[in-house]
Amino acid sequence: SAGLNVLAEKSGRYFGSATDNPELTDTAYTAILGDKNEFGIITPGNSMKWDATEPSRGTFTFTGGQQIVDFANANGQAIRGHNLVWHSQLPAWVTSGNFDKATLTSIMQNHITTLVTHWKGQLAQWDVVNEAFNDDGTFRQNVFYTTIGEDYIQIAFETARAADPDVKLCINDYNIEGSGAKATALYNLVSKLKAANAPIDCIGIQGHLIVGEVPSTLQANWAQFASLGVDVAITELDIRMTLPETDALLQQQAKDYATVVAACMNVSRCIGITIWDYTDKYSWVPQTFSGQGDACPWDSNLQKKPAYASIASAL
Ligand code: XIL
Repeated sequence: SAGLNVLAEKSGRYFGSATDNPELTDTAYTAILGDKNEFGIITPGNSMKWDATEPSRGTFTFTGGQQIVDFANANGQAIRGHNLVWHSQLPAWVTSGNFDKATLTSIMQNHITTLVTHWKGQLAQWDVVNEAFNDDGTFRQNVFYTTIGEDYIQIAFETARAADPDVKLCINDYNIEGSGAKATALYNLVSKLKAANAPIDCIGIQGHLIVGEVPSTLQANWAQFASLGVDVAITELDIRMTLPETDALLQQQAKDYATVVAACMNVSRCIGITIWDYTDKYSWVPQTFSGQGDACPWDSNLQKKPAYASIASAL
């Protein structure tokens, strides 16, 4: 049967996967990751983050990110840049530097300009700002917010646009899949940014979901986001279960993946879906959510799970 990206392309969408540098030595793994029929776009899971790219002030390393760009290019795949401004995986020199507003603004702008310029013309999308909100819809009190104020977000987008006029610029977050306080806050922010003519092109919806707990409001919420005049992209989809895995959980997971895919298919500005790695072998879930795992469409032996077929039929 056709691969997931081939199926997604029938409606002008894409299907993609995240990856990470250490996995690229696993040739059985890369044989599937590099198959453009399955994945039309690749996201570096870690190697474009601030700690990886500017570990000390003004010293930039692109090696890890470039390795994934080279891999995708060799296989004719597009790339999502991830990410430019985020509270996590942010070096201590930024979080604990006690910089004043003007200095931190220029540090942030320099980081953005340097990365976006380095890969100018080579990436399809950038997550410019990641996880700006708390779950209650208030702004996360990260160092950029507390030092620069809410304006850090618009400044970040303007800086990215100045460095690459063509890459799609996204704001990305989790727990905004269905409606709720956090989704509303993001909607209101993007509405404000659009009214201010800020160069924002897309809302990235991470999609770290739980088997049996997929919100019923996905489609309505994404249609509402899209009504702001932005694309929506599912950027980090995985659907985890409490271990041990059972047949019933695998069947429910297959249904849940299909629900997410169908919601995207039903929103014309939902441009595509990226899973946060394709195999349980390299998923971030077990290290992050104790007792949970098996969140991906391929198992840890790189075999397709029931979710694979359900995604394929929903595309
Ligand atoms: C995760 C990576 O997959 C892990 O390897 C790393 O240890 C922590 O970060 N939201 C995001 C991603 O935007 O960057 C995170 O990636 C997962 C949650």
